[in-house]
Amino acid sequence: MGYKIFNKSSESMTDIDNESIDLIFFSPPYNIKTFYGNFNDNLKFEKYLDFMKNVILECARKLKKDGRLIIEIADSIFINQKYIQLAGVIQKLAVSNADLFLETRHINFIQTKDLFELPDHGFDKNYSTSIKAHSNCHQILVFNKTKTKPKNGEILYINHKPSSEHPCPEPQEMIDFIFKNYFKTGMKVLDPFMGTANLGIQIVRNGGTFLGYELVERFYNIAKKKLESA
Ligand SMILES: C[S@@+](CC[C@H](N)C(=O)[O-])C[C@H]1O[C@@H](n2cnc3c(N)ncnc32)[C@H](O)[C@@H]1O
Repeated sequence: MGYKIFNKSSESMTDIDNESIDLIFFSPPYNIKTFYGNFNDNLKFEKYLDFMKNVILECARKLKKDGRLIIEIADSIFINQKYIQLAGVIQKLAVSNADLFLETRHINFIQTKDLFELPDHGFDKNYSTSIKAHSNCHQILVFNKTKTKPKNGEILYINHKPSSEHPCPEPQEMIDFIFKNYFKTGMKVLDPFMGTANLGIQIVRNGGTFLGYELVERFYNIAKKKLESA
């Protein structure tokens, strides 16, 4: 029980043994020019896909044979005047490149003051299409290493709460959902994009072991402080 966190890129997680992790959960950067500090969230799309592929492959190596990888990702992004079905692209990377199987797909709607819940990019109050960089509809993709019968997913409604610590912290409702459905005491849980470790705190408080990677030192330091007091 406890935690181990690293201020480095999760593209190579050599600090962790292969096939040792029960549950991996992450919400990655969406490559939509979010300002994270010393990390460039505006890569050429091919480069971004290579980056995502590397992390997903590394996650598949670290996952136990009966473990799960859960990715929370915007349904679509609108960047450089183009719509991209990001969740579909990421699902394909995991299935085709990392030999993972899609077990379930949940849908979560991030509710904000001015966006309705729509499957693709939201509409603003005047019913004109919003060109906000990512859709308010997200998918929670659940992968495993063995082919099982696909299960029906759920629909979640999550309130967006801005934070002064991080531009996109994991909402508590999302963490509670992962806990209720996928966590058991004693599990080893990895978040390769941990941000300020909102997930990690709950893992540690509930008898699990948390492993986290974060590239930006400021977020890593906040995570460290919060985990120490948890
Ligand atoms: C969408 S946020 C995740 C937020 C996190 N779930 C939380 O609750 O705060 C993505 C995070 O990944 C970090 N990041 C970006 N590239 C990374 C990399 N190569 N390795 C590790 N972390 C990275 C960013 O700095 C950012 O904090």
